[in-house]
Amino acid sequence: MRKDHKPYALKRLLGAIEKFYINHRTTPQLDALGPAPLIMKPWHLKLHGANIRFGTAVHVITAKDRTVRLTTWQHEDGAGAIEIQDYALLCPGVRIDSASRVVIGTNTMLAAGVYVTDADWHGIYDRPKPIGKTAPVVLADNVWVGDGAIIGKGVSIGANSIIGAGAVVTKSLPANVIAAGNPAVVVRELDPSQPMQRREDLLKDHNQLSHDIDLLEQLMRKENTWWRWLRSKLAPRSGD
Ligand SMILES: CC(C)(COP(=O)(O)OP(=O)(O)OC[C@H]1O[C@@H](n2cnc3c(N)ncnc32)[C@H](O)[C@@H]1OP(=O)(O)O)[C@@H](O)C(=O)NCCC(=O)NCCS
Repeated sequence: MRKDHKPYALKRLLGAIEKFYINHRTTPQLDALGPAPLIMKPWHLKLHGANIRFGTAVHVITAKDRTVRLTTWQHEDGAGAIEIQDYALLCPGVRIDSASRVVIGTNTMLAAGVYVTDADWHGIYDRPKPIGKTAPVVLADNVWVGDGAIIGKGVSIGANSIIGAGAVVTKSLPANVIAAGNPAVVVRELDPSQPMQRREDLLKDHNQLSHDIDLLEQLMRKENTWWRWLRSKLAPRSGD
């Protein structure tokens, strides 16, 4: 569809349904959920296990064909925990599996199809035995992980660092570098003189932000009528 024909009232209604779902279905599955979450189509966010915590203004973008899955495995007390810190972004198809501890730092972005795991989930020799080796994974503040990258057990990534699309990260990486490849290696350092904009710079006044977004929605949808939307669904025309 070239254009989203939904009338403003329908957009508001869908937003209210998402909010209701987050409050009544998602929140009970989480150990913590900070204020101003933005979880798009929350019914495609799949949560399995305990010790999953979301900070403030966490954004999760899901889709019917690319669910976001967070799974913890409590094989001993306190083990298996996922912490998504403030202003972090999880894109469609992201998977995080934890048998010990995974921390996704503030402002960190996980692009579509990223896989983060703190375990091998099978023994090298004792294959039927679940979990295998496990070691915590910690992504610091403002890390950007590119499309389809894999972050393995025991990896720590320093603040502001970028992981290239398709990379496989098996060893820890320092702050302020770009790393890429399989296995991922540092390809260059970030320029410290460049001012860094973080997601929180945009999102911290989330009341003002949602007010501005609402004004924009009203503006963008003022020509959208229920009839035009229904027709675009039932009998789409070229150029719709
Ligand atoms: C990591 C990335 C941001 C670096 O971009 P860049 O700064 O323009 O990097 P360059 O193109 O200068 O590449 C530097 C070197 O790293 C290599 N490299 C860069 N990205 C790579 C990747 N994903 N895999 C393997 N090697 C990569 C380049 O081949 C180049 O090697 P060379 O020095 O031997 O020629 C970019 O390559 C990338 O992966 N972008 C994808 C981001 C993404 O997934 N976005 C989705 C929406 S969130």
